[in-house]
Amino acid sequence: MSNPYILHMITPAKNLSPFDVNMAVDAGWTTVVPYTQVATAEVNGLVQDAIFSRGPKNVCRTGMFIGGRDASEAMDMLQLAQNAMVPPFEISVFADPSGAFTTAAALIAAVEQQLHKVHATSLAGQRVCIFGGTGPVGQVASVLAARTGATVSIVGHKSDEHPRQVAAECKQRYNVDLEAADGSSDTLKEQVVADADVVLGAARAGVQVLSGRNLSAAKKLKVAADLNAVPPPGIEGVGLMDDGKVLEGLHGAVGIGALAVGNIKYQVQQALLQDMVVKGKPQYLDFEYAFERARAYVTQH
Ligand SMILES: NC(=O)c1ccc[n+]([C@@H]2O[C@H](COP(=O)([O-])OP(=O)(O)OC[C@H]3O[C@@H](n4cnc5c(N)ncnc54)[C@H](OP(=O)(O)O)[C@@H]3O)[C@@H](O)[C@H]2O)c1
Repeated sequence: MSNPYILHMITPAKNLSPFDVNMAVDAGWTTVVPYTQVATAEVNGLVQDAIFSRGPKNVCRTGMFIGGRDASEAMDMLQLAQNAMVPPFEISVFADPSGAFTTAAALIAAVEQQLHKVHATSLAGQRVCIFGGTGPVGQVASVLAARTGATVSIVGHKSDEHPRQVAAECKQRYNVDLEAADGSSDTLKEQVVADADVVLGAARAGVQVLSGRNLSAAKKLKVAADLNAVPPPGIEGVGLMDDGKVLEGLHGAVGIGALAVGNIKYQVQQALLQDMVVKGKPQYLDFEYAFERARAYVTQH
């Protein structure tokens, strides 16, 4: 009997994401085992319980996936998992809480691609505003965009208080400077987008954060990308499947829709689940790694 590929899937949440279970099995993991309501302090013990039973030869057929809803908690768990390894008893670990790491990576890579293709420029020096940037996806997208040299503003829907908290946390954890903005009225939203080169919709599913009228205030706009796949559109005028479609009345700006980003996200998540095994040595896969993979994918397609 050949040894199966066993993926231990841990989450601090009550349930593991069925999406992630499907992805893992489709990527080739033959046995996936959920561990729910896992506390950060339990990660060390779970890792050390997983690494010793299969011998150094088969340990590479064992992996760990970290889910949940919180990007910071997942990054802490990833670090603790890596610290718990006892070489040569060492396994790959991949964190993707709420799909945030692969989705944010796909989003920013897709934006970069359109900036390059349509506007012959990069993200460096662009002004980016992220509506819903306080959620797990938007937070990671903000960090990735800021690390490319963009000026990033996180926009809150009630005030700038939550964005300011998230910006402070990102400064402390990732040493990036993020701005915070208040998007609690049409007037304020229009002020925020007025000098934006890139507008991103990463708010809660099923919520429209920008109307067509709000977006028309973005006189310098180059790219608008929306992640919301649940009607109504998060950014009015950006279609689900749009992949560089010119936005009407917006001076050559283009749109990227949720399903176009979703396709890249799917490819990246599948690639990372496979990289855990085929790279030959243990991998610790975070959002930076996902971003490298997303950039490579969009360059090739
Ligand atoms: N296309 C894909 O492949 C893909 C994959 C994963 C996720 N997604 C989508 O990506 C988006 C972000 O996901 P997430 O999990 O990070 O989102 P989330 O945590 O559910 O929400 C993100 C932010 O939305 C804001 N928000 C909540 N209610 C709002 C309202 N009524 N009006 C405006 N803003 C509101 C909140 O920020 P403030 O309170 O600070 O304003 C919240 O932090 C979702 O639409 C999700 O469905 C897409």
